[in-house]
Amino acid sequence: MKAIVYTEYGSADVLQLKEVERPAPKDNEVLVKIYASSANAADWHLMRAEPFLARLENGLLKPKNTKLGSDVAGRVEAVGRNVKQFQAGDDVFGGMPLNELGSFAEYVCANEEALALKPARLTFEQAAAVPLAAFTALQGLRDKGQIQQGQKVLINGASGGVGTFAVQIAKSFGTEVTGVCSTRNMDMVRSIGADHVIDYTKEDFTQNGQRYDLIFDAVGNRSVSDYQRALRPNGICSVAGFTSLSRLFQVMLLGGKKVGLMETAKANKNDLVIIKELLESGKVTPVIDRTYSLREVPAAIRYLEKGRAQGKVVITVAQNN
Ligand SMILES: NC(=O)c1ccc[n+]([C@@H]2O[C@H](COP(=O)([O-])OP(=O)(O)OC[C@H]3O[C@@H](n4cnc5c(N)ncnc54)[C@H](OP(=O)(O)O)[C@@H]3O)[C@@H](O)[C@H]2O)c1
Repeated sequence: MKAIVYTEYGSADVLQLKEVERPAPKDNEVLVKIYASSANAADWHLMRAEPFLARLENGLLKPKNTKLGSDVAGRVEAVGRNVKQFQAGDDVFGGMPLNELGSFAEYVCANEEALALKPARLTFEQAAAVPLAAFTALQGLRDKGQIQQGQKVLINGASGGVGTFAVQIAKSFGTEVTGVCSTRNMDMVRSIGADHVIDYTKEDFTQNGQRYDLIFDAVGNRSVSDYQRALRPNGICSVAGFTSLSRLFQVMLLGGKKVGLMETAKANKNDLVIIKELLESGKVTPVIDRTYSLREVPAAIRYLEKGRAQGKVVITVAQNN
C-alpha cells in the first residue's frame, strides 16, 4: 500500500510517499481501507519534533513510528478474531492515538475502541475532518473548562480546525458563545452558531470590559493577566495551544487555579460516541477549508503550519463510489 513515511525529523520535505507493507489486524483490531484523513497540529509537531519533548515520545534522534495521521474515515476491510463491534463493509471514522499515528496511508489497523460507525449524513471527507480537533474542543471545554449551560463562553481562534468545533460544541451545551477571529472569517464563525464575533484585528477581547465564565483558547497568544482580566470571578481559562514556549511556561507557572493548559486531547470511544451524536443531530458540522490528495500531504502540512486554515485541512486518500 502507499503511505506517507518520514525517517528523520524536519520540515515537510522529510515526508515521502512510499510503498510499504499493508498492515494485518491483530485480534482486537480492524483493518480500514482509508477514504479520507485530515491534518492536525500534532502531525507537524511530531514531524519536526517540536517542542523537543516530542522526542521523548517518538525517539530521541529519529522517529520510531515513521507514519503520521490521526484522523481516519473509511470502510472496514477485515476484522481480527475478537472484534465484536464491526464487520467488513462497515463505514467507520475515528482517531488513532498519538503513539500509533498512521492514517496518511491507504490502509490502517485500528483498535475497535478507536472507531465508530460513520454518521450517514457525512461524507468520508467530512467525517475525517472531525476526530482529533473535536476531541480537543470537547475535552478542553468540558474537562478543563467545566462548561455549564447558560455560561458566557469565549473561543479564541474560533476559525481554526479546533476553534470551529469549539464554537459548535460550546453552543450544544446551551452557552452564549463569542468567537474571536479576523475580519475574513467573521461570517463563517457566525454561520456555525457564534452569538457574537470579535474581530481581533479591530478589538482586543481582554480590553473591552466584557467578562466570561469560560475562555477556551485555541491560539495561546495571550498573557495570564490578559486572561484574568477577561474572566468573571469564578471563571476558567482552558488553553489548548500556544504560540511560543514562553507563553506555555507562563500559563503553567503563573496560571493558578483559573488559567491552565488542557490535558493533551485523548482519542477515546466515549467521546467519539458523544461527538457522533452531535454530528448526527446536526449540532456539529465540520468546516472544511481545503482538500489535498495523499501525495500532496507535504503541501497540506505546509499550509496548516502557516496557521491560517479556515476550518480543517482534509486529505482525500481514495475516491469512494
Ligand atoms: N492540547 C491538545 O491536545 C491539542 C490538540 C490539538 C491542537 N492543539 C493546539 O491547538 C491549537 C489550534 O489548533 P488548530 O488545529 O485549530 O490550528 P489551526 O487550524 O492552524 O488554526 C488556525 C486558525 O487560527 C486563527 N488565528 C491565528 N492567529 C489568531 C489570533 N491572534 N487570534 C484569533 N485567531 C487566530 C487563524 O485565523 P486568521 O488566519 O484569520 O488569523 C486560523 O483560522 C494549536 O496550537 C494546536 O497545537 C492542542
